[in-house]
Amino acid sequence: MRGVGGPSGDLPSTFAPLLIDWQRRAGRSGMPWQGSRDPYRVWLSEVMLQQTQVGTVLGYYARFLERFPTVRALAAAEGDEVMALWSGLGYYSRARNLHRCAQAVVEQHGGEFPSTAAGLETLPGIGASTAAAIASFCFGERVSIVDGNVRRVLTRLLAFEDDLAQAKPQRRLWELAQALLPTHPSADDMTAYTQGLMDLGATVCTRSRPACGQCPMQGICRGHQTGDPQRFPVKTRTLKRRHESWWLLLVRLSEGPERVWLQRRPASGIWAGLYCPPVFESEQAACAGLPSAWLDRLVALDAVSHSLTHRELRLHPLLLELRSEPLPGELPQGQWVDAMRLGQHGLPAPVKLLLQTVWTPDLFAQP
Ligand code: ADE
Repeated sequence: MRGVGGPSGDLPSTFAPLLIDWQRRAGRSGMPWQGSRDPYRVWLSEVMLQQTQVGTVLGYYARFLERFPTVRALAAAEGDEVMALWSGLGYYSRARNLHRCAQAVVEQHGGEFPSTAAGLETLPGIGASTAAAIASFCFGERVSIVDGNVRRVLTRLLAFEDDLAQAKPQRRLWELAQALLPTHPSADDMTAYTQGLMDLGATVCTRSRPACGQCPMQGICRGHQTGDPQRFPVKTRTLKRRHESWWLLLVRLSEGPERVWLQRRPASGIWAGLYCPPVFESEQAACAGLPSAWLDRLVALDAVSHSLTHRELRLHPLLLELRSEPLPGELPQGQWVDAMRLGQHGLPAPVKLLLQTVWTPDLFAQP
């Protein structure tokens, strides 16, 4: 390893004070979860922000808190209602874990979140970095987050050459992150430090075209000194997404109240537990079980692409308009959902977009 000394050997000792000072002057402020030391609010924001941009989270955060102002209210909710409120945020395992976590806090901790990162990490859906964020924001614990943004900031700062696809360098970076923490921080210092790490990664030390000219670390950044900070973090194994095509049978019933035929997805796998039109691996498979009289009424809508962590999905919607109720068995397994109630169902984001091309968007207002 070049560029990095022992756990605290030749680490830049000015990093923490520079970061705290910069965050207070130039970091992000005014976000609704900032300024709160209530672990419920901070936890909710951190889970929502794990894979989602601040701008998208804002509305969801407000609606969640309005409907579930306390961890007890969330724990007591129906799973379906939690999924419906989450609908559109993606990465739905977060919503299932959110609900399970609230129930664990109520059942196992008397409704109070544990007050240390180690205790928080035992809860469903709270990984090491989220636990560190909550513990430092709410309890002033001297512990470092290491999420994707922070890995980028620190590997550039230290010109950390080792491959972060491997477990050992990951552990080493975590140790270095701990060694870089401020020495005797107050709770407010820890809040500014943790938020500063997040803000620097999100707004200055960005993946492409980092704004080194505006960075408070420019004078101590070894990645900058190499002339090519974007080379960090070094990662050999890149994620390869598998390409898959899905055909979605969008059946619309216009007799009586407008309805759409949806299936509940299985409890595990893609879009687990969400509502979705029946999915098929080919157009032939989508048509195979349908009465032959319907086939020339099927309309192929424009395909859309959707990226998941490990998959690149190409979705091919097939629209079928029915004017009267089909006979039992004529449609694949599923149920009619009143178009006026679509907003109350957990729908995967691309499915929601597809349905909005057929029905008017205001049917999808969140409950
Ligand atoms: N991403 C993760 N946590 C965040 C926070 N507290 N503020 C802004 N972005 C974040």
